[in-house]
Amino acid sequence: MAEPLWQWEDLVAAAHGDADGAPALRVTGFAIDSRSLEPGDVFVALKDARDGHEFVPAAFKAGAAAAIVSRRYARGGSGPSGALLRVDDPLRALEGIGRAARARSNARIVAVTGSVGKTGTKEMLRLCLDTAGPTHAAEKSYNNHWGVPLTLARMPADSAFAVLEIGMNHAGEITPLAEMVRPHVAVVTTVEPVHLGFFPSVEAIAEAKAEIFVGLVPGGTAVLPRDNPHFPLLRERASAVGAQIVTFGYHEEADFRALQVDLGPRGSSVIAGHGSQRFPYRVGAPGEHYVRNSLAVLATLGAVGADAMRCLPGLARIAAPAGRGARTLLDAPDGQILLIDESYNANPVSVRAALAAMAVTPRETFGRRVAVLGDMLELGEESPALHRGLKEAVDAAGVDLVVACGPMMRLLYDELAPSRQGPWAPSSVELEPALLGAVQAGDVVMIKGSLGTRMAPLVAAMLARFGPGRPGG
Ligand SMILES: Nc1ncnc2c1ncn2[C@@H]1O[C@H](COP(=O)(O)OP(=O)(O)OP(=O)(O)O)[C@@H](O)[C@H]1O
Ligand SMILES: [Mg+2]
Repeated sequence: MAEPLWQWEDLVAAAHGDADGAPALRVTGFAIDSRSLEPGDVFVALKDARDGHEFVPAAFKAGAAAAIVSRRYARGGSGPSGALLRVDDPLRALEGIGRAARARSNARIVAVTGSVGKTGTKEMLRLCLDTAGPTHAAEKSYNNHWGVPLTLARMPADSAFAVLEIGMNHAGEITPLAEMVRPHVAVVTTVEPVHLGFFPSVEAIAEAKAEIFVGLVPGGTAVLPRDNPHFPLLRERASAVGAQIVTFGYHEEADFRALQVDLGPRGSSVIAGHGSQRFPYRVGAPGEHYVRNSLAVLATLGAVGADAMRCLPGLARIAAPAGRGARTLLDAPDGQILLIDESYNANPVSVRAALAAMAVTPRETFGRRVAVLGDMLELGEESPALHRGLKEAVDAAGVDLVVACGPMMRLLYDELAPSRQGPWAPSSVELEPALLGAVQAGDVVMIKGSLGTRMAPLVAAMLARFGPGRPGG
């Protein structure tokens, strides 16, 4: 049997808490949600929308090895029966465990931030590094004040590599997380107007991303997007902390540079260059943005001391996840529809990326391009202009029909010739029947909008009408 993730005494010490009751059973993981708890997990009772303390009994029922709590429970009767670790604040305790996990680790640690592309890059790094040694990586988009310490706490002591995602909505949020992670390599995928409503400018977003360099270990490496307009600022901030700098992109001065890129509906073929070295590889998910992120991966592999040639075949195994570009072939009465599910979120750069990726599918297979677009949120005063500004990308992608919802997307919609205006509705719920009436066999249908615009039900409606479907390209 593999080593347990934590010895109980070490965990109690790292959490700065008091053990209450019998020691925990074998600790094999951590959970903050009793519904997804696996037997052997330590349940951490965080306060979020609801107080995790309410779910301690459910956690033990699901097989929790222990629970980290700040509440005093009466023993016996209806109180929890398992091992408790009592602390002042479970979130602080989780951070303490995260720091202890980092302190005991000999892994080469990569932290990924950026306005978009963090999870895609993290998943590609996981696939690549796994071929070089045991690799621990964040689950989903666990990148915030609890996601980062949770990911560290879950890191096995014998990991050779770890890949963490660090996100932010506001200035100052990355600093404490980067100091907790202390990465050897800090990757900035890109800087874009995402969450712009919380920042005075995109430059201020670049400053906030640059907080990641503060956490770099001495002699650590910053992997930077050479094509980004804010590259000089990032370089300056990284240099200021003494980081080594490695760049990626299409720019002729990029250290890891795309020399040849063939975009296809099932993925891309790339030849990248580094000095006189050539790296031919395949990226399993379609879209130019995946190619860009793959260049960041290539640059990172060298920086963590992995053999890039050996690791790169991992990139062929990347697949776009549900809500983030997953492709499904659906059966319509007279043929097929290709559904691209981008419903998880949207901002100006990711909508452009998604439109471009939909255009990679040749007209011979799917003749009509239908973009189903919902409002992009959190864009502040620039929001109307940023919505209207998508017109160029809609044109460049050869979109034949725009089906839209929300007051902001109405602004883009009004820019279009009537022949390209499909149905529009104030909300996604109201759009649903019209969308189902507007699509037909031979369409590629890409659905995208911010999470708050609720585009996922439209994907579900397409699957219910034409599904279940099968993975398609
Ligand atoms: N390098 C890139 N350039 C432009 N768009 C990108 C890039 N990488 C990803 N995208 C777009 O952003 C979407 C989200 O990608 P991903 O999940 O990797 O981002 P993220 O940074 O993890 O997002 P979140 O902050 O929501 O966790 C993708 O579906 C794609 O549309
Ligand atoms: Mg993410």
